[in-house]
Amino acid sequence: MVQLKVVALTLLVLWSWRNFEGAVGDPQLYLLTLECSGFMAPNLSNFYQNLNASLADLRAQVTSQSRHFATAQSTSRTDPVYAMFQCRNYLSITDCATCLAAAATEIRNCSVGTNGAHVVYDGCFLRYESTDSFNQISSSSHTLCGNQTADESTGYGAVGQQVLMDLQIATPKISGYFAATKTQVSGGAIYAVAQCAETFTQDNCLDCLSNEQSSMQGCLPNTNGRAFDPPGCFMRYSETPFFADNQTIDISPFLKQGGVGSNKKWVIIGCGFGGALLVVILISLFPWNRRSQSPKRTPRRSIMGATDLNGPTKYRYSDLKAATKNFNEKNKLGEGGFGAVYKGTMKNGKVVAVKKLISGDFNKVDDEFESEVTLISNVHHRNLVRLLGCCSEGQERILVYQYMANTSLDKFLFGKRKGSLNWKQRYDIILGTARGLTYLHEEFHVSIIHRDIKSGNILLDEQLQPKISDFGLAKLLPEDQSHVRTRVAGTLGYTAPEYVLHGQLSEKADTYSYGIVALEIISGQKSTDVKVVDDDGDEEYLLRRAWKLYERGMLLELVDKSLDPNNYDAEEVKKVIAIALLCTQASAAMRPAMSEVVVLLNCNNLLEHMRPSMPIFIESNLRPHRDIFASTGSSTSNATTSNSI
Ligand SMILES: *[C@@H]1O[C@H](CO)[C@@H](O)[C@H](O)[C@H]1NC(C)=O
Ligand SMILES: *[C@@H]1O[C@H](CO)[C@@H](O)[C@H](O)[C@H]1NC(C)=O
Ligand SMILES: *[C@@H]1O[C@H](CO)[C@@H](O)[C@H](O)[C@H]1NC(C)=O
Ligand SMILES: *[C@@H]1O[C@H](CO)[C@@H](O)[C@H](O)[C@H]1NC(C)=O
Ligand SMILES: *[C@@H]1O[C@H](CO)[C@@H](O)[C@H](O)[C@H]1NC(C)=O
Repeated sequence: MVQLKVVALTLLVLWSWRNFEGAVGDPQLYLLTLECSGFMAPNLSNFYQNLNASLADLRAQVTSQSRHFATAQSTSRTDPVYAMFQCRNYLSITDCATCLAAAATEIRNCSVGTNGAHVVYDGCFLRYESTDSFNQISSSSHTLCGNQTADESTGYGAVGQQVLMDLQIATPKISGYFAATKTQVSGGAIYAVAQCAETFTQDNCLDCLSNEQSSMQGCLPNTNGRAFDPPGCFMRYSETPFFADNQTIDISPFLKQGGVGSNKKWVIIGCGFGGALLVVILISLFPWNRRSQSPKRTPRRSIMGATDLNGPTKYRYSDLKAATKNFNEKNKLGEGGFGAVYKGTMKNGKVVAVKKLISGDFNKVDDEFESEVTLISNVHHRNLVRLLGCCSEGQERILVYQYMANTSLDKFLFGKRKGSLNWKQRYDIILGTARGLTYLHEEFHVSIIHRDIKSGNILLDEQLQPKISDFGLAKLLPEDQSHVRTRVAGTLGYTAPEYVLHGQLSEKADTYSYGIVALEIISGQKSTDVKVVDDDGDEEYLLRRAWKLYERGMLLELVDKSLDPNNYDAEEVKKVIAIALLCTQASAAMRPAMSEVVVLLNCNNLLEHMRPSMPIFIESNLRPHRDIFASTGSSTSNATTSNSI
């Protein structure tokens, strides 16, 4: 079978802002991509007769049979042609015919005799091949995000996330594989569609859409996004209507059943977003749940991959030396697992944080250093610290970061500024941290597992919004240095038991650490500090104490005494504690993905539906275990566990 080798004649045209879309008489001829195979049909005259015949057949099916989807083939001569046309179901047949005509013209722009090609518009797509392969999905997925951010206060991002997940779940179950929804958000609505080729199996459609869905999550909270895999699936959302309201489909019946498998974790009913009653089903069919088996980074997109990344800014060593007054102790902000961090003031007055990585034999890993730094410097999210650039001179490897005026969260919880955060601020930190981690795990080009989430790694900006630091660094250290740390890079009290005990690393290890940090934020108690519990006099560290209180229905006992009970909503606090306990469950598979945590935090009235199972309690007769925690200097588990309380 001839494999399609798509030559990138890809036209990713910038969005034009149109206010009037979806009106009758608009075939939506906005070109998203034209791609042509690199192969030529051997017998041109036969090929073109076949191509013309199959396109004519498609046209006839659309116009005379009023079809939105059609396939045709012309195989009686050599150089057969198999063609497929798909029109968005919300368009009229007249508009579909117009879209097909435009596509048939456009697709001839490929060079003469090209034996396979596809063209995608907002309104339709057309494809032809030299073999019949219409039930196969490809990996040439495209994602295009609008460049305007929605007003966060409307909850657009969270609602959008849910809309996309719901569409992904429902569409494969709907006959014809098409769904269009309109979901209210305050001050507007989110319009969204999903569609698969009718030649797909239900599983193919689900695979294809889950891929698009997870890439398009990265567009939120921007006001529009499109993701498509040209051979057969398409998703789009926008705050601007692009179909008429009477074209929407009620997808709720398709959400109630759960997924294809029976591995549904919990069902939440009545999560109110802006008054809309949504049925939220969190099931393990999302791609990141499958991915979590593999601790390796997995490329998420082929086309928009590494070549799209911008290189990091290269700083001169002499400039950084001057900025930090020769790495003066007075400028030192702290010392982390990866090296010391200094405050630096550049010549132009800009203040930065300069991290000098622990030195070692870096020569061997120079390429890797470059590529890792390139990757990390392309991570842009408001809850992640920006890596501005790097410097490598001799044995020195230096990273330059955005400077955070308020330093780290631990100072606000246990340090000098203990007790200064109110509940609203704490809640925002809990939510923002979950968003940052979601981006790292599920929305960036590759999945990045942080491995060392702790309150000391969460920095706060002027508005006390959280920004996660130190992600992606484990691979930057030279072999001899990284050996110990990367096998288990983590800090006592925060590290997931399966990672400490068996070295099993997945996104769910970060979920666990996140749950611990959330408990710290609520209680003001350090995860490793032993606290005397009033009634039975037991000494308890944080997680065990939280679990005991949960079992006794006394969750509010956990709340930091410096918080004024009049300033927080008891139900909200209980909900967040319950979510934290879901995150710290013994079984990694039972813990929610970080995107699910974001959804849970955004939902109300959930408490009765959440049933966390018991965490593993690592024995607390703590002795340092040098092999594992050589770098942290903290005391740690001797790797025994106890399941009893
Ligand atoms: C956003 O896209 C519009 C239309 O393509 C363009 O005119 C505008 O300059 C873009 N804005 C930014 C900030 O990139
Ligand atoms: C193409 O095929 C036709 C019939 O199959 C044949 O008559 C013609 O000579 C072929 N042309 C070429 C260039 O091979
Ligand atoms: C196929 O159609 C194109 C455009 O309609 C036309 O120019 C061409 O001559 C046709 N070729 C054959 C072999 O019919
Ligand atoms: C394809 O050709 C038409 C003219 O035949 C032209 O208007 C259009 O811009 C071309 N498209 C591309 C992508 O080159
Ligand atoms: C849907 O609404 C449009 C106007 O927005 C109208 O022209 C069209 O006939 C309606 N279609 C159906 C099926 O009701």
